[in-house]
Amino acid sequence: MTDIKKGLAGVVVDTTAISKVNPETNSLLYRGYPVQELAAGRSFEEVAWLLWHGELPTPDELAGFEKAERAGRALAPHVKAAIDLTPVTSHPMDVVRTAVSVLGAGDPRAEDSSPEAELAKAVSLFAAVPAMVAYDQRRRRGQELVPPRDDLDYSQNFLWMTFGEEATPTAVDVFRISMVLYAEHSFNASTFTARVVTSTLSDLHSAVVAAIGALKGPLHGGANEAVMHVFDEIGGADRAEAWLDRALAEKRKIMGFGHRVYKNGDSRVPTMKAALDRLIAEHRAQELLALYETLATAMDARKSIKPNLDYPSGPAYRLLGFDTEMFTPLFVASRVTGWTAHIMEQRAANALIRPLSEYVGPEERHLP
Ligand code: ACO
Repeated sequence: MTDIKKGLAGVVVDTTAISKVNPETNSLLYRGYPVQELAAGRSFEEVAWLLWHGELPTPDELAGFEKAERAGRALAPHVKAAIDLTPVTSHPMDVVRTAVSVLGAGDPRAEDSSPEAELAKAVSLFAAVPAMVAYDQRRRRGQELVPPRDDLDYSQNFLWMTFGEEATPTAVDVFRISMVLYAEHSFNASTFTARVVTSTLSDLHSAVVAAIGALKGPLHGGANEAVMHVFDEIGGADRAEAWLDRALAEKRKIMGFGHRVYKNGDSRVPTMKAALDRLIAEHRAQELLALYETLATAMDARKSIKPNLDYPSGPAYRLLGFDTEMFTPLFVASRVTGWTAHIMEQRAANALIRPLSEYVGPEERHLP
């Protein structure tokens, strides 16, 4: 029998210099830097640059990048029109997937796969996805588009364009931390999807659109949304244990717990949980904290399965004011940096990704 690695579990398919996940030491390095150190003191703009270029930007490089990012923040009319055409009943991941596709269709560099053009498209996506997500959130609330402000940094402007008011320093910082933590995670399902599409020599936007489709699923990025549906279903800390026992008896997967690579806890969780605690203090959301802690403790006691990043980020995004369905598009805004870094890495040393399968259908037979 062929040794089949279902789900490619444990299979090393290529090298990467972008990030290193070490489940033994519970560490995650972006280009060699521990993600906790980056989350503690670096802007999301600096982290994006690091992922793309391999080094942190010099002050001049950062200034040039920030200028380009601010110049690309406004929602292009054809992208806004495409968003307006999608029903507000559709899932916001479908909207951002469509909007990225339309942005690519209108980009004159779409078919140019030179390193310069790929980087320019990555910067354009980095700048434009927040506008797509913010506008989609607003129109679902019957609100008008808020134009970007170029006196604000990425995180401040994202929250400004979403809510039409300046966010508190805590809110901005928690949001920035979540963007840094979500940015990159080696060969996860959506990144691998982007690399598969790139390996056929397709264009960057097609790879990102495909990655968004992979991220949408609740076993991947869709879990941050699913966590809040679970919290809403449970209703309060006093009901968490009974709910969990029922759910486990029904063999349900508990969203926000477990990880394919980390088996002793996700390296990003302590940083995101500390950020969530700051928001909880600002909002005096002790009931949310109690539910969070009770469910995590009960899951650990019953299954020894620890939370992943989606567990603290879901409640954080709720406290920041986003609708639950918008959580996974926020993940897109962040992960687009990692995806595009991987697209460029794949492009630079490409081999078509085309695995084999073991055929288990009928033996050869012939039509009567
Ligand atoms: N709830 C209940 N049981 C779980 C969970 C969970 N969240 N995660 C793993 N298990 C159990 C499985 O039922 C299985 O038990 P068994 O051996 O008795 O059958 C065992 O742990 C191993 O689980 P697998 O599903 O084989 O582990 P895998 O590595 O394939 O799955 C995954 C990882 C998909 C993330 C899984 O833990 C899961 O479904 N979690 C919930 C969804 C989620 O939170 N996804 C976010 C991923 S992280 C991110 O995108 C930022």
